Amino acid sequence: MTETEGTTTVAEAPEARGDHVIEQGWAEYGELDHAIWRRLFERQSKLMPGRACGEYLRGLRDLGVAADGIPNFERLSEILDRATGWRIVAVPGLVPDEVFFQHLAERRFPATNWIRRPEQMDYLQEPDVFHDLFGHVPLLMSPVFADYLQAYGRGGLKALGLGALKNLARLYWYTVEFGLIKREEGLRVYGSGIVSSHGESVYCLESASPNRIAFDLMRIMSTDYRIDDFQECYFVIDSFDQLFEATRPDFTPYYQALEGRPAIEPGALLAEDRLIEI
Ligand code: PHE
Ligand code: FE
Repeated sequence: MTETEGTTTVAEAPEARGDHVIEQGWAEYGELDHAIWRRLFERQSKLMPGRACGEYLRGLRDLGVAADGIPNFERLSEILDRATGWRIVAVPGLVPDEVFFQHLAERRFPATNWIRRPEQMDYLQEPDVFHDLFGHVPLLMSPVFADYLQAYGRGGLKALGLGALKNLARLYWYTVEFGLIKREEGLRVYGSGIVSSHGESVYCLESASPNRIAFDLMRIMSTDYRIDDFQECYFVIDSFDQLFEATRPDFTPYYQALEGRPAIEPGALLAEDRLIEI
């Protein structure tokens, strides 16, 4: 950007910034905003022990994300940066895919700065700051997961070029957002869409209704998902290393193999699926 003499150039307008980054505007949150955060935080943090995986619980504790109010992204970024080299940047809601992937590829997590209204405590279509911080950031304190999300960002840029975004988006959905992990103590949650949801964090572990299927990369990349209700299926990993190893190879031949294959319905169960018992 070139220097101009005291005038605001178009390039300085927030919407013109290629990375879509804005100020969080922390000082502008009102008492109601912080009160909504507190209610969500208290409700969810009570549910997490015994449900979320250890990496998540440790991340939440070490971040020091607190019940007292919406955290300041800058302060949170200092802690996160020291642990895994990630930072949080504020964006105005959803950003274009390419922008999103570019941030992840450079170890920046784009988080929305708005918080839901009191009548939206249980249901949201678009992520808010509670989902983004409480849901996503604790796992970014874990080195293996932090590397996974960066690799995912790079893979996203590649998938865009290959016209395979749909396949890769399903992987994000069924791991980062709605993933379950099998531990000796039992099934645990690591997906951010689950940990930030009061209803789903119980449903996904206890309800007899959804299918819980052992992780299978190609199966996941073929499976549609629903954004308007609890999931009809969850995919269960054995470890984060399993996830990292399975996604390490070049996906180009995988995308070719998937091209033209019909999508699998979210509620479908295939003969070759391995079901995980609760
Ligand atoms: N290995 C994938 C590729 O070549 C990228 C990727 C990594 C995707 C991690 C998801 C998660 O496209
Ligand atoms: Fe999310």
